[in-house]
Amino acid sequence: MSTNITWHAGLTRKERSELRKQQGATIWFTGLSASGKSTIATALEQHLLQQGLAAYRLDGDNVRFGLNKDLGFDEKSRNENIRRIAELFADSSCLALTSFISPYKADRQTARELHEQANNTDTPLPFIEVYVDISVEEAEKRDPKGLYKKARAGVIKDFTGISAPYEAPEKPEIHIDSANTSVEEAVVIITKYLEERGLLK
Ligand code: PPS
Repeated sequence: MSTNITWHAGLTRKERSELRKQQGATIWFTGLSASGKSTIATALEQHLLQQGLAAYRLDGDNVRFGLNKDLGFDEKSRNENIRRIAELFADSSCLALTSFISPYKADRQTARELHEQANNTDTPLPFIEVYVDISVEEAEKRDPKGLYKKARAGVIKDFTGISAPYEAPEKPEIHIDSANTSVEEAVVIITKYLEERGLLK
């Protein structure tokens, strides 16, 4: 616990938003390993940047090389992984894309609640959950990194979908059927939703 610290107010999110002429939001991708969440999030980031919007993507694998390199894949570590990411983005005024398995409902709910609490201030901060839905069988067929194979062989412990749980979202804002949707189609579905919410201006 840190002591002798004082919150520095700085710019409000409203001021930041007005200066940037853009409202922020968090677009929270969740899904099994190999579901396509990182690929879709990257294509979306590229599209948004091409439109002149500020967007930034944080990826589970990548964050675990640095900021969260102290964390493993047991339940407690995954909770902490998601808590840190949710905290990090709760006050950003850009379109923040996060692609983490985030397998536990309670952790995603915590991330959502952080955003809802921020909504009580003068500028809304939408939290948009994108469920990149794929069956374990399909993900295992893709297995681009060979991780499912290693998990089946017992080389990797606590592997999501095999030896660790994935709690699917019940009411995500956006549901992508990964086996039957191309990356381009997924980007169209998400941008259409963002447009309808007035987040692409
Ligand atoms: S989590 O559950 O949200 O904390 O996971 P995340 O930070 O997104 O990290 C997932 C990536 O880590 C690799 N990896 C594993 N995934 C699941 N279970 C186990 N045990 C595991 N070990 C390593 C894997 O490359 C995941 O990346 P994606 O992009 O999801 O395939």
